[in-house]
Amino acid sequence: MTAQPNSITAHSEITVPSKPSLKRQISVDANDLQSKLEAHQKRIYPPLAKKSMRRLTSAEVSKFLGIHEGYLRQLAAEGKAPLPEVQPNGRRTYAIEEMNVLREFLEGTKSPRRYVPHRGEGEKLQILSVINFKGGSAKTTTASHLVQYLALKGYRVLAIDLDPQASLSTMFGHQPLLDVGYNETLYGALRYDDERVGVEQIIRSTYLPGLHLIPGNLELMEFETTTPKADDVALFYTRITEALQPVAEHYDIVVMDCPPNLGFLAMAALCAATSLLITIHPQMLDVLSMAQFLRMTGDTLEILSNAGAKEDYDWMGYLITRYEPSDTPQNQMVGYLRSIFGPRVLQNPVLKSTAIADAGLTKQTLYEVDRSKFHKGTYDRAMESIDLANGEIEALIRSAWGRQ
Ligand SMILES: Nc1ncnc2c1ncn2[C@@H]1O[C@H](COP(=O)(O)OP(=O)(O)OP(=O)(O)O)[C@@H](O)[C@H]1O
Ligand SMILES: [Mg+2]
Repeated sequence: MTAQPNSITAHSEITVPSKPSLKRQISVDANDLQSKLEAHQKRIYPPLAKKSMRRLTSAEVSKFLGIHEGYLRQLAAEGKAPLPEVQPNGRRTYAIEEMNVLREFLEGTKSPRRYVPHRGEGEKLQILSVINFKGGSAKTTTASHLVQYLALKGYRVLAIDLDPQASLSTMFGHQPLLDVGYNETLYGALRYDDERVGVEQIIRSTYLPGLHLIPGNLELMEFETTTPKADDVALFYTRITEALQPVAEHYDIVVMDCPPNLGFLAMAALCAATSLLITIHPQMLDVLSMAQFLRMTGDTLEILSNAGAKEDYDWMGYLITRYEPSDTPQNQMVGYLRSIFGPRVLQNPVLKSTAIADAGLTKQTLYEVDRSKFHKGTYDRAMESIDLANGEIEALIRSAWGRQ
């Protein structure tokens, strides 16, 4: 009989809960969700697993070197070029480093063509902001494919994750909570107190030669809270340009993946940029949101210009993303955008594709995934549209350097 009072006590402890605070519940939900997501991430992508780049086919190497596949075969037949061994299956595949050795070899031949595209004297560092405050407009997908494409084409590229959500960092295998510590985001090089570090200390190499990364995490939010309190608040817009100065000569192109808002960080990115890429999903609500974004950006840039902010952009482009050619309202919207913005809308939209979405689920780009894992037609269509859009952006960058 002694058990009864105890069980009543235990029961009453459980059934008389204090009134739950929903405010507190948000943090509880956040913790629950975060720990479940982390566990899920660890399962699909263990923290100690290092991402690596697969070997490239001859067709891909020809594409990234800008040579005909027949020329590659001719080089193999002549036996003078440094090529990797043929695989047991009779095919020749290339590690990126091996492709780059071949690139250097071609650059050293008597051909007047340039194969190593690094910028030269008088060609200024290109700083490209991928921006739009509409969430989910494919900024990160665009930025991650673009930086990999540019690195594979032989440029020296720095990718900067400016989004506290850190999706770009995750794409590159850096998990914001596990792998990115105190002062290891760009905030470390922007902060206003004496804990500021040089940008060289926060740049990481990636598994892709020629591509470096400054990762992001929630720490970036501190720029939003510390900037209004800073002594030199009026000069926040020069912050990123100044931070990048010491490493500028090591890169040809910097690509910043911006957060989906127009806070101080995004404004500093707008001011540091030499060009803007505005990603847009061609649907009414997204375009309405972009109209607001353009109005606010225009007003902000005007105020900052009056306060002495930098010169003009080299170019700006609207990139249509997640485009479905068979969707009539989307087509009307694209026509509408082209009629208003003219040539600033890039010719080549990026198609909506399950290949891009599926690759994203495993934190990979189309350049990383194995084509054989996809339906070939689906992969090839998506890859072609990504390559064409990236090629058009590369051409804009080159024309800013005065090249053909
Ligand atoms: N071309 C595409 N085809 C199919 N899915 C796509 C395509 N581009 C992007 N997506 C998917 O759309 C979602 C949003 O893309 P992404 O994260 O790149 O947008 P974002 O603008 O960076 O978002 P945020 O504003 O939250 O930073 C992702 O799940 C991504 O995989
Ligand atoms: Mg993003």
